[in-house]
Amino acid sequence: MDREKILKAGKITSEVRKYAKSIIKKDVALLEIAEKMEKKIEELGAKSAFPVTLSIDNISAHYTPSHDDQTLASGLLKVDFGAHIDGQIADTAFSIDLENNEENKKLIEASKKALENSLKIVKENVSTNEIGYVISKTIKSYGFSPVMNLSGHSITKYQLHAGITIPNTNEGKNIRLKQGLYAIEPFATTGSGKIREGKPSGIYELKDMKNIRNPISREILGFIEEEYNTLPFCSRWLVKKFGTKALFGLKQLENNGNLHHFSQLVEVQGSKVSQAEHTILISEDEVIVTSE
Ligand code: CO
Repeated sequence: MDREKILKAGKITSEVRKYAKSIIKKDVALLEIAEKMEKKIEELGAKSAFPVTLSIDNISAHYTPSHDDQTLASGLLKVDFGAHIDGQIADTAFSIDLENNEENKKLIEASKKALENSLKIVKENVSTNEIGYVISKTIKSYGFSPVMNLSGHSITKYQLHAGITIPNTNEGKNIRLKQGLYAIEPFATTGSGKIREGKPSGIYELKDMKNIRNPISREILGFIEEEYNTLPFCSRWLVKKFGTKALFGLKQLENNGNLHHFSQLVEVQGSKVSQAEHTILISEDEVIVTSE
């Protein structure tokens, strides 16, 4: 583990959060916001650990603008983004109300407070269900529900989801956290607390380097391995590099089993969802919130 790079990636996400808050306004194109944030991550000396996701209202996660996206910012917007330096990742998210809506504000406050409270108890050997309990209790105290089937996660080099999950309720698989890097991400909703898979997101992850015949697809596969390794990427990035023929290549690579294609995640009842997230580094004698 490279502590210096982990901390630097965290600092960069912190800068990008400030920048994002300065450019996000109602009716600004999501495409413009995502591209500007991703450019900022690079200017500050890192790469995007995954595409900037900008999920509105009942879309809980995994909405990244396509290369020709027309959607404008509105509603309760969740901004989830990450930076990495040589595979050392920081993953963070915040929510913003673009409607001056009281319920949105309260929902945002609930997930933010749940994150703050969980950070107060997190240390080596804390159990994941204890964290989930604090998150759930905090969100319920606002009269909302935690989203049960979305959770925080352990992070390792080039692995955004490295195996351990940190639930948003106390009903997950109970594990004691060892030293290492983790993301905690409470989601609060006015609905029942469940999400389902929605439309394809245009976000992919490399799964298998098995051979593919088509030369365009093979070239794209090589580029993906070289450029993103095992981190998520999106069709928009590949259209930028290869033009719209990348879309054909991605389809082929998906069908051939080379890529996993993520779905958008939507609240089952169509209810609004808020999110807050930070990355933490647990070491022997301290816990650092790297993305703060
Ligand atoms: Co995360």
